[in-house]
Amino acid sequence: MPDDRGKALLTDIGTEELGHIEMISTMIYQLTKDATIEELEAAGLGTNYAEHGNGLYPTDSNGVPFTISYFATTGDPLADLYENMAAEQKARAIYENLIDMTKDPDVIGPLLWLRQREIVHFNRFKELYEYYKTIL
Ligand SMILES: [Fe+2]
Repeated sequence: MPDDRGKALLTDIGTEELGHIEMISTMIYQLTKDATIEELEAAGLGTNYAEHGNGLYPTDSNGVPFTISYFATTGDPLADLYENMAAEQKARAIYENLIDMTKDPDVIGPLLWLRQREIVHFNRFKELYEYYKTIL
């Protein structure tokens, strides 16, 4: 980002996103740590168990591992902020889909909190986008 305001925002949100990964990883661990192999297979996690046992391995819902290719950077602050805003909206939508898929209040609560944080991130990126539009 072109100035300290942008750097501070990216540092704040980036740090928080790492915390979100920790929250989701903990939730998945808590939900699967006592599951039997049969229960994992019934939940569609048989191949994950075969590859990773009970260890956490970051993939999307199709089993595609996390890669750096998920990051889209052009070097243009306005384009990159718009990309970030879109990513926050996609994260919000995914959290809403996940909420729709469970009735477990111990899962819904954290997902609602994470969903709300994505909305906050979207708004903070949007504020920075509007500011940069005036100075770039
Ligand atoms: Fe976010």
